Amino acid sequence: MRTEDEVLIVGGGIMGLAIALELKLRGTSVTVLSRDFRQAAAHAAAGMLAPQAEALPPGPMRDLSLQSLEAYPEWVRKIEDLSSTDIGYQACGILAPVYDAPSDTPNNSSTPARRWLDQTAIHLAQPGLNPDILGGWWLPEEGQVDNRALTGALRSAAESVGVTIHEGVAVTDVERRHGKVVGMRSPTGTWQAQHYILATGAWSQALLPVPVQPLKGQMISVAAPMVDAAERPLQQVLFGPDGLYLVPRRDGRIIVGATVEAVGFAPHNTPAGLQELLSKAMRLFPAIAQFPIQECWWGFRPTTPDQFPILGASPYNNLSLAIGHHRNGILLAPITAHLIANLVTTHETDPLLPHFSWERFLSPMVPSPATASPAPSSYSSPKSMSQPSTLPSATPTQTDLTVARSSDRPLIIAGQTFHSRLMTGTGKYDNFEVMQQSVAASGCEIVTVAVRRVQTKAPGHEGLAEALDWSRIWMLPNTAGCQTAEEAIRVARLGREMAKLLGQEDNNFVKLEVIPDTQYLLPDPIGTLEAAETLVKEGFAVLPYINADPLLAKRLEDVGCATVMPLGSPIGSGQGIRNTANIQIIIENAKVPVVVDAGIGTPSEAAQAMEMGADALLINTAIAKAHNPVAMAQAMGMATVAGRLAYLAGRIPVQGNASASSPLTGRIGKA
Ligand code: GLY
Repeated sequence: MRTEDEVLIVGGGIMGLAIALELKLRGTSVTVLSRDFRQAAAHAAAGMLAPQAEALPPGPMRDLSLQSLEAYPEWVRKIEDLSSTDIGYQACGILAPVYDAPSDTPNNSSTPARRWLDQTAIHLAQPGLNPDILGGWWLPEEGQVDNRALTGALRSAAESVGVTIHEGVAVTDVERRHGKVVGMRSPTGTWQAQHYILATGAWSQALLPVPVQPLKGQMISVAAPMVDAAERPLQQVLFGPDGLYLVPRRDGRIIVGATVEAVGFAPHNTPAGLQELLSKAMRLFPAIAQFPIQECWWGFRPTTPDQFPILGASPYNNLSLAIGHHRNGILLAPITAHLIANLVTTHETDPLLPHFSWERFLSPMVPSPATASPAPSSYSSPKSMSQPSTLPSATPTQTDLTVARSSDRPLIIAGQTFHSRLMTGTGKYDNFEVMQQSVAASGCEIVTVAVRRVQTKAPGHEGLAEALDWSRIWMLPNTAGCQTAEEAIRVARLGREMAKLLGQEDNNFVKLEVIPDTQYLLPDPIGTLEAAETLVKEGFAVLPYINADPLLAKRLEDVGCATVMPLGSPIGSGQGIRNTANIQIIIENAKVPVVVDAGIGTPSEAAQAMEMGADALLINTAIAKAHNPVAMAQAMGMATVAGRLAYLAGRIPVQGNASASSPLTGRIGKA
């Protein structure tokens, strides 16, 4: 099935349509293949145009967003003229109230503009806010658009100028030959054009091994009383300190958004999601408690590891990418359309585009298991993405492990970002060489080191600290061997000095171990909490090793620990996870990363902990004492990725009855 058109766009959401319109207006013929218009993230969004409220960091992302915001009025006019539809664009400003004093000094003359409103001013500007709100930012240049009206109008506008849109066409494969895309395969045939654009949002990984993951957001709308516009209870967009936002529409609806959930493509609104939204909304703006609920829905943000979009060139010279816009797709649509249309029609690369290149995900901090390990590997290294002839014909099941890892949200601990979710140690190896190879084969980025044993040059520890390349590995000094809180505090301070001496000036991490018991090596909960309190006050990022006690975990989180590290079973025992129920409770309740530490003996147990939703693992003995530590390190690295992917993918429910793999309906048989 060949289209006569020059450009074929896969994706009928806001990006696909915006690019199609722009290209067509420049005289390029365009076809759009849309799988299901209603599933697009733009349909689910709230329509805020909010680079500052969204706290986009200064740099290319903020520049891109501000250029897009500036382009909005003209872009809206064009779409409204072509579609004869009002799309509810309002440059109405956004109010960002806070419950606590901000850490930065209120500055009313910054660019982009923002103005600090004190407690009196903010309650005057928006009556009905929670009395505990003690001020907030007024962001006069931000605004909103009615995103559903926008996507509908954009579609009509595109059709009105001659863009062909095929709805209900699901592309299943990108056909590639000799470094070029030669077609987009769908159940109804293969579509061909001269140039292709992928604008497939959260579903992009099904077509190409790009690190774009769905990040679910649940939403609610309520109906405010229908009174004159000037008397409406909510006069402006509110963007709360906890990420909750309220967006009042001209028709009286208030959109309440949104949860942020890494649950893969798990559909539906959930009681927990709705409760979170409603409680935060009623806290920020109590009057909302009485407004009738109109609608609940959900959508999937397309999110990359750094949360910036992937724009421009791809490994194939006739395929461009416009994916991964995370929370900012509505805002970024005009600039994305402009830059991609420039690239396709004039081959002009805007200076901003290289910052959003897919290639930025090709350089992991440490070698991937595939490149680090001497063992033969059946999966390709990340470099395969730069060689189109070896790019796997991608389906999610064929995506290589490194891409799988980089497609995940990074692990963030105390502001430091890590792409591996496996931590290892240095103890118990037969020699340094095996330790070095095992650390590399595991793909880990964090290695824990026993400060005391290094300081006292315990057997096997002399020269150990120098044996690893600390420019590539983040050191996690631990307080192993400390029996009291006082000892652990002292050793933690030494650990900080040790990290500094080895070149990690900004490393304030400590794995806190207070272990009086020498038989089972179980941690002392009271001593751990005491030491944690002191160390947090001293500015340490504390990662406490604890028994799997949910209440203790909560207390440690409350005092400011950076993670909690519940043990699966006693250190070095290889008994696996003996306390699943408690670890599950900790995972469900923790707001800091949960690192399952100790007891894991096999890759299947590592995968099990990750499938439960652990954020990371620490494994030492099972690797160091394995018959072949290097191979076991690689296996543990792979199991950690597999378990994490499985967790994100969402397992099937356990059923009492069988369920046939082939459907029983539609069989050929007797009528
Ligand atoms: N743009 C807001 C959100 O993604 O929730």
